[in-house]
Amino acid sequence: MNLPFLSKNNLVVGVDIGSHAVKVCQLKRTDKGYAVLSLGSVVLPEGAVDDGTLVEPEIVAKAISDLFGNLKIKNKKVGISISGYSVIVKKVNLTVMDDDQLEEHIMTEAEQYIPFDIEDVYLDFQNLKTNTDTSDRTDVMLVAAKKEVVDDYLEMLESIGLQPVLVDVDGFALENTYEYSGAKSVNVALVDIGASKMNINILSNGMSVVARDIVVGSRQLTEQIQATLDIEFEEAEAIKLGQVPAKEHQQEIEEIFSSTCTQWVLEIKKAIDLYHANNPEAPLQSLVLSGGGSKVLGLREFLEQETQLEVELFNPFEQMSSNAKKIDVEYLASIGPEMAIATGIAIRPSVI
Ligand SMILES: Nc1ncnc2c1ncn2[C@@H]1O[C@H](COP(=O)(O)OP(=O)(O)OP(=O)(O)O)[C@@H](O)[C@H]1O
Ligand SMILES: [Mg+2]
Repeated sequence: MNLPFLSKNNLVVGVDIGSHAVKVCQLKRTDKGYAVLSLGSVVLPEGAVDDGTLVEPEIVAKAISDLFGNLKIKNKKVGISISGYSVIVKKVNLTVMDDDQLEEHIMTEAEQYIPFDIEDVYLDFQNLKTNTDTSDRTDVMLVAAKKEVVDDYLEMLESIGLQPVLVDVDGFALENTYEYSGAKSVNVALVDIGASKMNINILSNGMSVVARDIVVGSRQLTEQIQATLDIEFEEAEAIKLGQVPAKEHQQEIEEIFSSTCTQWVLEIKKAIDLYHANNPEAPLQSLVLSGGGSKVLGLREFLEQETQLEVELFNPFEQMSSNAKKIDVEYLASIGPEMAIATGIAIRPSVI
């Protein structure tokens, strides 16, 4: 039987446009969950995407178009995810109202919650329905995204014949992947370390309670290696990844890694401490790391030692099937952490 709402075309292709690379993930629903249909990434030139905004739309468009071509993806319906200064996620506590009233309230009152002109943003909200028998107040998650930034992405995708049907937020996409991958903990810190930002999303009882973007990431390592050794960015990147030996600079490189990772861990600990101060009754059970920066050798163990939490390197494909003839098994395992956000988008149906 072929139910239309279970057809593979009902899912969007997840496109995560990071500052280092574009990641693409296409999934299919199966009777056992999900299967990975296509997967790939392409590195962008320096500066093409900066702080979540498209600086060089033509270059990014060409990269995505080539990637879709190489992966032979026919589905034009794509979902993207945004982050950075142009998106604000805020939880507000309101008296319970029906959906229409809530929408009206948010549209008229939004400016008191969001530091943008309301004309300039796309606004979305979700009632988290936290009201109880004894309280008629509920938490509502507000998301505001700058129209000009989002529109640039939509235009760029349309210019290569794609149909953007969904705009997600990095932290939510991450949460989505974690939940679908058989969430092991209910109180968990999801931490994505990309090239230029770290996204921390702490879930308590499966609900996001601390969400923040911090401007640190693996590019910091490359830039410091570049400056210390006075070499090109690409060469510094290759040394960072261990593709080129550091030779006599080994000691200096180790110091760069150690001081940068210490800074990352301090930021993570700050968010965890804030969470524990506000939620003493629900201690964190684990920390799940994703993003390319999470692959820094020794980071997982260092974080485990510093936070006293179980730290896991995220593999969003653990519960999914795939065709080994089409997607190399080793590639699938190694690319997992970087693919967490693209996978979270790819899980979303295109028609809700
Ligand atoms: N083994 C590794 N050790 C250190 N860094 C790594 C490793 N593998 C990948 N990286 C780094 O991870 C970064 C890419 O990760 P990712 O694809 O998650 O970033 P991005 O999504 O493009 O960036 P952002 O989300 O910050 O805009 C690059 O800086 C890359 O050098
Ligand atoms: Mg990223």
